[in-house]
Amino acid sequence: MQLPDEAIAFNYQSLLFLPRPEDEWRPLLELQSENFLAPTRLKAIVPQIMQIKQQVATERELIEAPANLRPLDSGFVDLPDKLLADLRKNKDKSELSRIQALATQLRDLCDRVLILGIGGSYMGARALFESLKSSFHNELPYETRLGVPRFYFEGNNVDNDAFQDVLELFQTTCLSPEDKQERWASVVISKSGKTLETAAAFRVIRREAKEMYGKTELLRKMIIPVTGPGDSPLRKLFKAEGYEDSEIFTIPDRVGGRFSVFSPVGLLPAALMGLDVRALLLGASSITRNFLEEPFERNIVLQFAAVCHLMTEELQKPIRVMAMWSKKLEALGFWYDQLLSESLGKQGKGATPLTSVLTRDLHSRGQQFQEGKRDKLLINVTVKSPKSPPLPIGMSDRNEDGLNEFSRRSYPSLMQAAIHGTNDAYREAARPTCEIQLPTLSEYNIGQLLQMLMLATVVEGKLLSINPYGQPGVEAYKRNMMSILKSVSNQDINTKNVAG
Ligand code: PA5
Repeated sequence: MQLPDEAIAFNYQSLLFLPRPEDEWRPLLELQSENFLAPTRLKAIVPQIMQIKQQVATERELIEAPANLRPLDSGFVDLPDKLLADLRKNKDKSELSRIQALATQLRDLCDRVLILGIGGSYMGARALFESLKSSFHNELPYETRLGVPRFYFEGNNVDNDAFQDVLELFQTTCLSPEDKQERWASVVISKSGKTLETAAAFRVIRREAKEMYGKTELLRKMIIPVTGPGDSPLRKLFKAEGYEDSEIFTIPDRVGGRFSVFSPVGLLPAALMGLDVRALLLGASSITRNFLEEPFERNIVLQFAAVCHLMTEELQKPIRVMAMWSKKLEALGFWYDQLLSESLGKQGKGATPLTSVLTRDLHSRGQQFQEGKRDKLLINVTVKSPKSPPLPIGMSDRNEDGLNEFSRRSYPSLMQAAIHGTNDAYREAARPTCEIQLPTLSEYNIGQLLQMLMLATVVEGKLLSINPYGQPGVEAYKRNMMSILKSVSNQDINTKNVAG
């Protein structure tokens, strides 16, 4: 199957060790032989990775997961296709139509939306917001925003002052709740329905909202729950408030938190943001097809997983830098941080992710990337064409800055010069890099990127003989935190220091 022109690309030629017969021995060649990947190593892993792909394909069809595969959260693989098929078949009655209808209704009722959630229940929505909306969306006038509400994210910490800032904004902007422009709505997202950060924030928000809107029909319309399929405490809370199951958005079975961006967890916020949800899913679906159907040579998920695995495990590059050549992709980098950390950081294994925005961080981490410890794989994430017209440097009557010679240059050419200049410098210092290239920042392309990274992470887990689903290590802090809360008085907690 041929992917359409707007397919994202993965280029890894630059990290292969490909000496030419005429090359004489030089210290650089020696360094490259130590730090770059020999094509034979890549070739050697192909049979294993093809088997793993088959295994992932089979696992997603299992009705009952055998004990050795639990937890098995492979539901994300087919989720985009299932939602699109449901839309085609059930039209107005489909899950996507329900999400769109709710988004339209809420956009007519309010001008600010507070998303409450943490980890996988928030990072995807934030990545979509930052990569696909204006960086100053919240500051734009209502008309310029085309009626799309402003967005805020909370319930992802227990930071008193940060939360108070949000509450202060709420209290100062929502004085007349009969005025739509002053109203806030909240989407509360928690799969387990019992994560403390989100639950505590929701309790506070409910209290504030009740005070503001009274116990009215409006209050009910302004708070939207998204939770897991079981009888979670969050679901119970809403049901106790008189909500029907049909008013609660459900994360499908076998879709784990950090794999849930294409469930209502990411899609409901996306629809509220006015994003093209269908294009997101079509992009994701194109990657699933590419993953399931293509041989290694044309399979970007398998290539990415193989390269990352070999660089981490065989070439000892445990730090994986996501070098985002777009400020708008930083939150997506943080989303990947979580995906990689919680999926593969087990049994003493797994690469450590680090999101960096370039060129910004060339003036901070750049020194370390160029000359620091040789423990990094740099994955450049580049965007081929900007969405806005190229901004020229232009001529100036004062040339003290010496920029007149570049007056005909525009920002995209500065960016290209920076990307090539930086990567040439890395190559000349035997620092391995590869590239994921997005044609442009669009829903279709972001959909591809998210699905590619989720699938590749699962494949990498299998290469490491690790179950990529579940995050048992996260429970340790929760257990301790709960027991401290239950046993230590307020005063003692506040005077305790970290050392004990
Ligand atoms: O990937 C995961 O499962 C986790 O990161 C969760 O998303 C996170 O812990 C939040 O959990 P919940 O949605 O149950 O509140």
